[in-house]
Amino acid sequence: MSSNRFDIEINGKACSAEKGETVFEVAAREGINIPTLCHDTRLEPAGACRVCLVEVEGQRRLEPGCAWKVSEGMKITTESDRIERHRKVLYGLYLADHELDSEGLPVETGNGNQLRELAMKTEPLALHPVEAPRAGRPADENPYIRFEPDLCILCARCTRYCDEVEAVNAITLANRGSQTTIATAGMRGLLDTTCELCGGCIDTCPTGALVEKKSPDPLPADARKVRTTCNFCGVGCQLDLHVVGTNGTSRVAKVTSPPPGETVNDGNLCIKGRFAYDFIHHEDRITEPLIRGEDGELHPATWEEAIAAAAEGLGKVKEKYGADALGFVSSSRCTGEENYLMQKISRAVYGTNNIHQCSAT
Ligand code: SF4
Ligand code: SF4
Ligand code: FES
Repeated sequence: MSSNRFDIEINGKACSAEKGETVFEVAAREGINIPTLCHDTRLEPAGACRVCLVEVEGQRRLEPGCAWKVSEGMKITTESDRIERHRKVLYGLYLADHELDSEGLPVETGNGNQLRELAMKTEPLALHPVEAPRAGRPADENPYIRFEPDLCILCARCTRYCDEVEAVNAITLANRGSQTTIATAGMRGLLDTTCELCGGCIDTCPTGALVEKKSPDPLPADARKVRTTCNFCGVGCQLDLHVVGTNGTSRVAKVTSPPPGETVNDGNLCIKGRFAYDFIHHEDRITEPLIRGEDGELHPATWEEAIAAAAEGLGKVKEKYGADALGFVSSSRCTGEENYLMQKISRAVYGTNNIHQCSAT
């Protein structure tokens, strides 16, 4: 065993750990659930929400499992009466200035609300509600992202994501005490900031305080997820299309990323992948091959007819002017396999090296 590996104990169970790991990381690997709100595997731990507090033998206070680094022989308890009491008080404090529904639970937007889920498992201490002091923000006219300050728990996942993942810093925590809120410089609308409208702040928000404006909220009950590859560029990001309606009338109503750690994009998307899905159902979209007839007009054709017509046309040019009169331009919207085949057609079939792809410039 390398000197960086050692054993610790979680809830009396021996667990192998590595220097530098947090209690949360070791527990997650061992299948031990520690609730979190401000934690995101893509971000540096912030220890902001205090939901993940655990008992560490020898420590007087409860410590944040998401940020506490393990050391050899450490003994940790993740469930106890003391931790239960802490969670009840903590959830009670969050709910006291949170927007609640008729059941006294945190309101849920289309993005879900993890605080609501936690409050349903551990009954929060009933505390006198306080008026949410973060109202009175100027309306943000951007077409994609809405902020619901009364649902915000100031966990700073959105601002840290914007800084650590996007490296954009368009949003930040502003003001102090009960006036603290998420803000842009000068409270400008996101369109007047450095924001790239990636929507990652929406995805990482644990309470649904950041909401997508474009999609129905909530989505219809029949919405189903379809995993696919984004075709806006060649990176190959995976998308979850939220499809509503039945065959023939089905429509994409929302696009999200698979969760962090599952696919190549690690939970991230750009503005195009997340928001630019209107083209799918646009009336101008070409959905079948077209061949220009002798009348000069485009006429629908089968794929076989269209491919045969293109091959015949290319063959005629080669015959008359030589192979280098032809040029092939591929696209970064195609897959690597499709781009490979394009150069194969150019070089092996028509005998020219005139092959180009837009991302090569
Ligand atoms: S949309 Fe992206 S760039 Fe804009 S504030 Fe959110 S995380 Fe930052
Ligand atoms: S908007 Fe969401 S992610 Fe940002 S601080 Fe508030 S609760 Fe956290
Ligand atoms: S998840 Fe650990 S403090 Fe928020």
